[in-house]
Amino acid sequence: MQPDPKQGEREYFARIGIEGLAHSAAKPFSDDHCAQYLAVMTALFALLESPPRRIVEFGCGVGWLSLYLARRGYDVLGVDISTDAIVQARASRDALTENIRADFIAADYEEFSGAENFDYAIFHDALHHAEDERAALACAFRALKPGGAVITFEPGTGHHDSATSQHAIREFGVHEKDMPPKHIIRLAREIGFKRWLSLPHPHDINRALYRRAYHQAVTPSELVGRRWLSVFRGFRRMFRTRDQGMVILWK
Ligand SMILES: C[S@@+](CC[C@H](N)C(=O)[O-])C[C@H]1O[C@@H](n2cnc3c(N)ncnc32)[C@H](O)[C@@H]1O
Repeated sequence: MQPDPKQGEREYFARIGIEGLAHSAAKPFSDDHCAQYLAVMTALFALLESPPRRIVEFGCGVGWLSLYLARRGYDVLGVDISTDAIVQARASRDALTENIRADFIAADYEEFSGAENFDYAIFHDALHHAEDERAALACAFRALKPGGAVITFEPGTGHHDSATSQHAIREFGVHEKDMPPKHIIRLAREIGFKRWLSLPHPHDINRALYRRAYHQAVTPSELVGRRWLSVFRGFRRMFRTRDQGMVILWK
């Protein structure tokens, strides 16, 4: 029998144990990347049209982002290949006292069969785990209503070779691909998306401007210098969105 290429993804949440699951469920505040996650949420809430809208989150993990979207009033479906993650997502939802519309299903986003049902499809840190990202994007395309949009927040060029990714590949057998905007957009054009836009990842803009390094400046002029360097770094991000950044694709 052929080995299952998605076994690492299917088993990841079972392998990180109860503590790992609790940590993931308590995102964004439980995690060192808290600022990054909050930046994504800010960008999303700024971008999305106001509720009521239907959103599918592909590769939702334990569903923390889906649940924040649902608390804002969106009708959300979270989809993940990991049954353990989906069990946790449902438990997190059931623990909320608010009345929200959030459902979670264990399914492969490369074979998702829903059609013309959603205003938005989101991949947050999830498409780069695909075995076949083209199939995943084609399913997202089909899932959208006409005029709907896919929004991706994915790591770009260089992610696969990073030490953290190589560790995850060795330890858990998961996929850790480079998923730059230029690749996502090339696939999207083949699939039939009508328009596309790549923007800097919101966290990269935040990181360029709001720097811990300000604390180390000892003179006022040093602070001014660092400030302008930050503005330059933020601006430069605008021109690097082929390799790093978020993507919006319209059907
Ligand atoms: C790095 S995690 C991110 C989880 C979540 N989006 C978050 O931000 O915390 C990647 C997620 O993609 C899911 N995934 C990977 N391949 C998948 C597939 N083929 N179908 C559905 N989910 C998949 C994994 O199970 C995992 O939950």
